[in-house]
Amino acid sequence: MRCCHADFALVEGSDRGFTVGMPTFTFGAGVLGEAGDNARDLGMTRVALYTDARLAGGEHVGTVRASLAAAGVDVAVYDQVRIEPDDVSFEEAARFAADGRFDGYVSVGGGSVMDTCKAANLYATHPAAFMTYVNAPIGEGRRVPGAVRPHIACPTTSGTGSETTGIAIFTLRALNAKTGIISRRLIPSIALVDPDVTRSLPPAAIAATGFDCMSHSLESITARPFPRRLNPAVGAARPVSQGANAFSDMLATEALKLVGAFLERAVRDVSDAEARTEMMYAAMLSGIAFNAAGCHLPHGLSYAVSGLAKDWHVPGYPADRSLVPHGMAVVLNNPSVWRHTAPSSPERHLHCAHCLGADVRGAGPDFAGEALATRVVELMRATGMPNGLSALGFDDSHVDALATGAEPQYRVIRNAPVDIGRDELKGLFRAAMRYW
Ligand SMILES: NC(=O)c1ccc[n+]([C@@H]2O[C@H](COP(=O)([O-])OP(=O)(O)OC[C@H]3O[C@@H](n4cnc5c(N)ncnc54)[C@H](O)[C@@H]3O)[C@@H](O)[C@H]2O)c1
Ligand SMILES: [Fe+2]
Repeated sequence: MRCCHADFALVEGSDRGFTVGMPTFTFGAGVLGEAGDNARDLGMTRVALYTDARLAGGEHVGTVRASLAAAGVDVAVYDQVRIEPDDVSFEEAARFAADGRFDGYVSVGGGSVMDTCKAANLYATHPAAFMTYVNAPIGEGRRVPGAVRPHIACPTTSGTGSETTGIAIFTLRALNAKTGIISRRLIPSIALVDPDVTRSLPPAAIAATGFDCMSHSLESITARPFPRRLNPAVGAARPVSQGANAFSDMLATEALKLVGAFLERAVRDVSDAEARTEMMYAAMLSGIAFNAAGCHLPHGLSYAVSGLAKDWHVPGYPADRSLVPHGMAVVLNNPSVWRHTAPSSPERHLHCAHCLGADVRGAGPDFAGEALATRVVELMRATGMPNGLSALGFDDSHVDALATGAEPQYRVIRNAPVDIGRDELKGLFRAAMRYW
């Protein structure tokens, strides 16, 4: 990415640098069994272990519980985490934390579990009305006032990278919109990233979470570069997500190469340990990258899609309600976005296409958006993704509602490399209806 470092030249009034936060992480098969050692090392004596109902009785939670018990750490399990959490489920989880007077937290699960655990830890440590720490303008956006209790995060999906981020995402029921709490203080103290856990993850979940990981990296590399961030703040007030930067570029580049080489294999064959291991590593790298750079349009638009889809069910996800997996909602908006944003930074879009495995030899800047969109569509087709928003029941008559649903996401959308208004939002949703 040396050629792109000109993008980071400082300009009048820009920030002077960027800040990267991340946990101490341990990556490798079997490291879940190190939870007890780590808990003791962090001074934990009585922990709350957060997980979801599907995982609670399974092998991964069993391994972590046994390791904590062997280390002499007391454990209380909270297994009521809602998949795709909301404000009500966050508040319930926070009550459990406050009542239990824990000196440490452990999460074993996907993004839904790790995010819920971060929020529970925050409200138990620094009690406040729920909207106090929620992102402005939806919430008050107040800064987290101090350190939270130590948290060991053990991801069981290969996508969100939440084990590395200071982000906790939830749906605010009153608005039917996703928002979150963001602070470097929410970054877990330790991430135990054990690729063995995804052996039990069904192919549809490997695909959806893999596309979440892919999009985190694509959005990091194509985000507005940090010196062009609007309203720069410096020092400790520098936001968690600051726009594209050299460090995020480096990690996201590596993650995209892994996704291009291994996503399809990981989805097709549960027993392909190499492919699933590399996807777990890619998800972690992407998490560190997008935590510092920020997401933009594909994530901003995805929340309207998941909020408005009426009747969608995917194997491996809760069957009792309509649910569009996060990574699926994100990838459905990918190809249309890349066609739109490529003129702002064609070399970055071509670089992404190349990393994902497209042959871009001889391709000029005019072809950048198409090159990236085409490669993403190839991966979607190879992994059984729906053919655009129309497959979920959307048509042109829903475009207005989708644009309205995306408007609460302007905080994220402003991180895009181009300016976006309501007309552009509608155009992007129209272009995402059908891809092949
Ligand atoms: N905080 C962040 O940085 C961040 C980043 C991206 C997404 N998110 C959020 O994370 C959530 C999505 O998380 P996710 O995609 O990891 O999935 P998830 O936690 O919602 O879980 C999806 C399904 O997979 C099951 N599951 C999880 N691990 C399994 C395993 N090893 N074997 C079998 N089944 C397993 C769960 O029980 C659930 O039914 C969304 O709310 C999204 O907004 C957060
Ligand atoms: Fe995501």
